[in-house]
Amino acid sequence: MSHSTVETTAARTDDASAGSWWRQAVVYQIYPRSFADANADGLGDLRGILSHVDYLAELGIDAVWLSPFYPSALADGGYDVADYRDVDPRLGTLDDFDDLVTALHTRGLRIVVDIVPNHTSDLHPWFREALAGGRGSGARDRYIFREGTGPDGSEPPTDWQSFFGGSAWERVEDGQWYLHNFAVEQPDLNWSHPQVRADFLATLRFWSDRGVDGFRIDVAHMLTKDLGDPLPTWAELQARPIDGSHPMIDRDDVHDVYAEWRSVFDSYDPPRTAVAEAWVHPSRVPLYARPESLGQSFNFDLLLAEFDAGQFRTVVTDNLELATRSGSSSTWVLSNHDVVRHPTRYGLPARTSTAQTPALEWLRSGGIEPALDRDRGLRRARAASLLVLALPGSTYLYQGEELGLHEVAEIPDEVRQDPAYVRTKGAQIGRDGCRVPLPWSAHAPAFGFGAGGAHLPQPDWYAACAVDVESADPGSTLSMYRRALALRHQLQTKEQLTWIETGRPDVLHFERANGWHVLTTFGTDPYPFPGSALLVSSSPFAGDVVPGETTVWFRRGALPSSQDG
Ligand code: NOJ
Repeated sequence: MSHSTVETTAARTDDASAGSWWRQAVVYQIYPRSFADANADGLGDLRGILSHVDYLAELGIDAVWLSPFYPSALADGGYDVADYRDVDPRLGTLDDFDDLVTALHTRGLRIVVDIVPNHTSDLHPWFREALAGGRGSGARDRYIFREGTGPDGSEPPTDWQSFFGGSAWERVEDGQWYLHNFAVEQPDLNWSHPQVRADFLATLRFWSDRGVDGFRIDVAHMLTKDLGDPLPTWAELQARPIDGSHPMIDRDDVHDVYAEWRSVFDSYDPPRTAVAEAWVHPSRVPLYARPESLGQSFNFDLLLAEFDAGQFRTVVTDNLELATRSGSSSTWVLSNHDVVRHPTRYGLPARTSTAQTPALEWLRSGGIEPALDRDRGLRRARAASLLVLALPGSTYLYQGEELGLHEVAEIPDEVRQDPAYVRTKGAQIGRDGCRVPLPWSAHAPAFGFGAGGAHLPQPDWYAACAVDVESADPGSTLSMYRRALALRHQLQTKEQLTWIETGRPDVLHFERANGWHVLTTFGTDPYPFPGSALLVSSSPFAGDVVPGETTVWFRRGALPSSQDG
């Protein structure tokens, strides 16, 4: 038997002080508009979340991350923020927010909020001022305005594309154009402007003063820009290396911004935390995760990986190594509000060489092609979740994954909300399928989401996944998550993992520092297991073999004899 141990910085310090609560936390992402609706307007709200804080506490998480709840026209599900220091009236009030913070803190849960600094909403007072001020006004300098091209300036300044499809430039009435890397309603801010910098510091203090424990930073790698004059073409932009000096992506000088933020975070006791949403080359992740910068960065590798032992092992090993380099802990994410839910990804045939993933093809066909094996997808998802929940570092869960929800494909085109769908006229199917309001109760209107219906249609199969149904079933995915999180609290130990070779390319086995063993069969063949398990992701489990596509947690004494070395 051979072993290889990966250890991150905290393994050596064993620092469990209040300031490092985040290092191995389980953080539950709430997409507020789709969690629970207390005022019966069809849209989830803060009082809806308040009504379920006991559910969150019983689940056994350590913290809640709230996606944006700020005033917004919902051009991009709230990531178009019109006021960074208020609550959208449809979602509640600042008093509701304070009540939520108190309710969570009383139950020992922390709260993380989303900060969206790359762009505002076009309804933000700054952008209204920029429009009213006209060409050449100082108010335009907070954004990125340029003249158009062509004889009358009616062509965009460049041929750059937005992430949601179409030109990244939009023309305003007086003929100038502004940059929006995302939706038209999301003008990019100019981070060279001192007022932009100062205002976000005020926003961080505002929420920190209200008791927020940490921040998730949206598009953290794109704030600072040095676009050049003349502006490069799209092809030139794409060809530029992303090495810290790219005009728009992952520039080194973005860390000057975060150094200022760090001094705000560290002025609180305990220091406020932050996690970067930075889609950057792995070698540059530690720059964001350093303690001098944001302190932690999302690792999205598992969103892209197949349910495959080799891929999982590489992702785990590489990311623990990256965490060591930055002094941070790794994060693990299987689902979030931007991707197809993992039971669905794992229930579709493995990716082919075509450009589209099966999940996107499946969504586009309304859930028909290729055929989804729901049971298999869920079985694999449960195995993946149990593996991930045993890893050193922090795990980010997305609302509904604890119910084993599949992606919803049955959304009529006319009710889709994602700007990516609308702007590309359906070429990008968008993210509505993972944002359908949660089922709380099998027999209540809108499955207990709220008395006012649901803002995206819920499918009939939601009934079987409702919280009340799954709570009553010891074999449900919810019951598995509850047991896993409770056990994790008992077993969690220093940030160290040792791989134990299994002699099978489709089986992974690792041990945490304290004899907590985790074994996953990625293939369909069983694996010998003579010991007694602490937790198993699928049933029936006879006890002498681990069935295929299953994760088992067990203690050292229960090691298979062939593995005892
Ligand atoms: C990343 C967020 O997760 C996504 O939902 C959003 O559309 C973009 N950033 C733009 O803010």
